[in-house]
Amino acid sequence: MSKLLSASVMCADLMNMENSIRELEKAGIDYLHVDIMDGSFVPNITLGFDFINAVKKITDIPLDVHMMVNNPTQFLDLMNLGKDDYLCIHYEGDLHAQRTLAKIREKGCKSGLAINPQTPVECFEHLLDYMDMALVMTVSPGFAGQKIFAGAGDKVRKTRAFLDEKGFRNIPIEVDGNISPENGAKMSKCGADIFVLGTSSLFIKDKDMTESANAFRAVL
Ligand code: DX5
Ligand code: ZN
Repeated sequence: MSKLLSASVMCADLMNMENSIRELEKAGIDYLHVDIMDGSFVPNITLGFDFINAVKKITDIPLDVHMMVNNPTQFLDLMNLGKDDYLCIHYEGDLHAQRTLAKIREKGCKSGLAINPQTPVECFEHLLDYMDMALVMTVSPGFAGQKIFAGAGDKVRKTRAFLDEKGFRNIPIEVDGNISPENGAKMSKCGADIFVLGTSSLFIKDKDMTESANAFRAVL
């Protein structure tokens, strides 16, 4: 599977978002990772649905929406997404994740299921037929700038083995949280395919995004 870069736009300069998106286009970034929080599933609130719809109007980079919310179904109709966009929900935030994943596909976009560090990879088991991506959180979600959790590499390796064993070699694994070039290289070896780049690798003051993206690609 090809290795893809997803830029975490909550880490961009919020007062200069359009410029940042143009920089990310120049850098050849594959996805824009948009974190949606509800102040309940995680103790923070960042970007919202109007932001998503506004971004869709100004760029062709597909979105990778990460919903850190309880009961995500209530929000699905508020987003105008297309066939190349991922819409990812958390296993822990939805008692009816199967139905929500099916609805995401009915909506015409790609479905993703995310799991927190303490959630076992076996949780994916009965939902694999409804998933287009597995998001393995490498930090507890909610904030940028945290440290990767100790068992992240083993968990990614275990997830890849689990998906392959169940016959889902085509489901890519995304990793999110403290994906520095060093951690990215490790996660890549463990089987990660999509890398969320935030303050650890791409959004660094006075550093050119194209150079940072190229440096990151070089270690994968
Ligand atoms: C939360 C976010 C963060 C963050 C990633 O889901 O996606 O994990 O922005 O960037 P880092 O951890 O490098 O600041
Ligand atoms: Zn995220």
